Amino acid sequence: MEERSAPTPKERTAMSSTNQVQPARHSCVVGLQWGDEGKGKIVDVLSAGADVVVRYQGGANAGHTVQVEDKEYIFHLVPSGILDEDTICVIGNGVVIDPRALIGELDEIRAGGLEHEENILVSDRAHVVLPYHSALDEAKESAGGDGKIGTTLRGIGPCYTDKSSRVGIRMAEFVDPVRFKERLVRLAALKNRELESLHGREPIDPEAVFEEYSAYAERLRPRVCDVTGYLHQRDAGGARILFEGAQGALLDIDMGTYPYVTSSNTSFLGLGPGTGFSARKVGRVFGITKAYATRVGEGPFPSEMDDEAGESLRQVGGEFGATTGRPRRCGWLDIVALRRAIQFGDVDAMVVTKLDVLDHLDEIKVAVSYTVDGVETDQFPAFTDCAIIPQYRSFPGWRESTTGCRSFAELPEKAREYLQFVADAAGCPIAIVSVGKERSQIVNLDPWLEPGVAMEGA
Ligand code: GDP
Ligand code: IMO
Ligand code: MG
Repeated sequence: MEERSAPTPKERTAMSSTNQVQPARHSCVVGLQWGDEGKGKIVDVLSAGADVVVRYQGGANAGHTVQVEDKEYIFHLVPSGILDEDTICVIGNGVVIDPRALIGELDEIRAGGLEHEENILVSDRAHVVLPYHSALDEAKESAGGDGKIGTTLRGIGPCYTDKSSRVGIRMAEFVDPVRFKERLVRLAALKNRELESLHGREPIDPEAVFEEYSAYAERLRPRVCDVTGYLHQRDAGGARILFEGAQGALLDIDMGTYPYVTSSNTSFLGLGPGTGFSARKVGRVFGITKAYATRVGEGPFPSEMDDEAGESLRQVGGEFGATTGRPRRCGWLDIVALRRAIQFGDVDAMVVTKLDVLDHLDEIKVAVSYTVDGVETDQFPAFTDCAIIPQYRSFPGWRESTTGCRSFAELPEKAREYLQFVADAAGCPIAIVSVGKERSQIVNLDPWLEPGVAMEGA
């Protein structure tokens, strides 16, 4: 780690430009919906102003897309700042790492012409996803009945379960052959009992897993370190750190639509425990929302459109999973859910993505309140089995392309009114609007679009 302690050129510029405390030196990007909001694109854009980009939770269930000209990259475990050669990309202790998936991703990145694998650091405390985790995920999901979540089958839930049950294997042990073998043999026996007797599945052969995974461990060993110490050291040196959330607030294990959630704190709440770096030091939280809504997998989605209306957004927005290819369920923007996500995520400003996907519509709707089991409310309910009927407010579409707009003034008037309403109703400023897949297709709002007093319209 020592050779990394000298300030980088970027860091020196940051330090010389100002020596005083910079409240927003560190930022965080999180999803405000059910994932796939366009976090990857925004992290890529913001990483131009960051020295270090850090993933802090989730695993290879994430699929973060960055498009540079006509080249598309999809990252699952590697932080979306990797395209910048001067940025260090850190995988924090809160992430669950499937070594096979990570090696596959590193190979793809290399094949794509990026030769800076040494920029990636992996926490020695991060837990490892092993073949029995994926097998258990698959077995539980295919058992039928009410238990189906519609997971990505990447072994995420079973790995976090083992972490909480204190029977996990961490990267530190994984890259140490003696410790890895001892734990793998002991824990595989435990997991095989579960696979065989509870689920009627084939057992995992620990010898075969050890052989395959030892090769991954060999490649990853130089990347594994004490990431928490590293982040504190870089902070002390004046570096700018950008944290990249995976999934979205409504999939948060504590705050989301439980049990139809993923198994980590997907919101800003996950940052501290997922890095060992205090969230108090992070000055700015960007919450990403699409201009409409999508969800993959099972679970409540109050503003979901019926198949036909949803199909037009699915096609225009290319709403198919970046990890599993599954068609995403589509719906209107939901202000009740958005306000809740902004509240518990301590969001400073929103980024509204995929505005261009609404360009062709005559009418755009926004859910502004719910009737829950017959009672009107503007609060998000705790139960997922209640009957939620959203009340909508309708807006006229602008019916012209926004994909070439680069300033707020260039956006069609009706699009500006729509965005102003979203800021007002959500009670949160909008910092950036995204109008296309490509890196350059953004409208940077300076000053941010502040909420006004239009709440009574909601
Ligand atoms: P993430 O998981 O939050 O990083 O989002 P995904 O990458 O899973 O899904 C977002 C999809 O929308 C990707 O295919 C992006 O290339 C695409 N995308 C991002 N921003 C925009 C935008 O403003 N307009 C359009 N049309 N596509 C976008
Ligand atoms: P990004 O980071 C969208 C969903 C799954 C399922 C639930 C639990 O690309 O936004 P899991 O495999 O995590 O146990 O599945 O969470 N899910 C996502 N949906 N985007 C994601 O990541 C997701 N990661 C998990 O579809 O409903
Ligand atoms: Mg995604």
